[in-house]
Amino acid sequence: MNSNVKILFIGDIFGQPGRRIVKELLPHLVEESAPDLILANGENAAGGFGITPPLVEELLGLGIALLTSGNHIWDKKEIFPYLAEHSDSRLLRPANYPGGSGGAPGQGMYIGKTRGGLDYAVINLQGRVFMPAIDCPFRTADALLAQIPSHVKVKVVDFHAEATSEKVSLGWYLDGRVTAVLGTHTHVPTADETVLPGGTAYITDLGMTGPYDSVIGMEKQAVIQKFLTGLPARFDVAKGDAHLCAVLIQAELDTGRALSIERIVRKA
Ligand SMILES: [Fe+2]
Ligand SMILES: [Fe+2]
Repeated sequence: MNSNVKILFIGDIFGQPGRRIVKELLPHLVEESAPDLILANGENAAGGFGITPPLVEELLGLGIALLTSGNHIWDKKEIFPYLAEHSDSRLLRPANYPGGSGGAPGQGMYIGKTRGGLDYAVINLQGRVFMPAIDCPFRTADALLAQIPSHVKVKVVDFHAEATSEKVSLGWYLDGRVTAVLGTHTHVPTADETVLPGGTAYITDLGMTGPYDSVIGMEKQAVIQKFLTGLPARFDVAKGDAHLCAVLIQAELDTGRALSIERIVRKA
């Protein structure tokens, strides 16, 4: 293996348009940049709300090594037993949901090896600003990082959060301790990708992989109507203008230190 590793991380895959564009464009991205590790956030894969076990298998079958998630992970009831029964699941839920007996099912960290033999760890965390009041993502990150064996150098954090300030803060907090802190959840890509001074690749939000002729993935009219009236509305997945949003990170194999981060926005 080369002395550098490449990590491709795909932002929130939204409904069928999102799944379709990943299927269509991922082979090209693999051919172009030969990533050693492909990760994606799958919290909106099932009609914008959650993910089902067959969709987990479908996305992993495209070559994605592991799926992260966020607040929408709980939308499809069939995912509860799946998370509970697959302790080595390659589907994560945010680690800072209260766990333990009687707590949220599933895991928020994965430590494993790619088929190519690369050791890696992924931590999924969720913010608390304008989101459910769960455990502290900063302290959860500290506790989980302490559990990662020292031979695992490539460590990627998906921080699924609403507030820019909380995301920027976690980036600085973990700088030099992980390969990347990548924001998800807002479904709008930000233009602030950078490698922080300690060697951590950072972006506030990867953006959604799904239909952009929409309000963050849903048909526009129903969402606008909801803002106009304040009344509950039924939201359907939009169809048009699908984009794949991702980042490609290069890191040193020996240290896990990020060397570069490139934002990728591709249309079908
Ligand atoms: Fe999302
Ligand atoms: Fe979310």
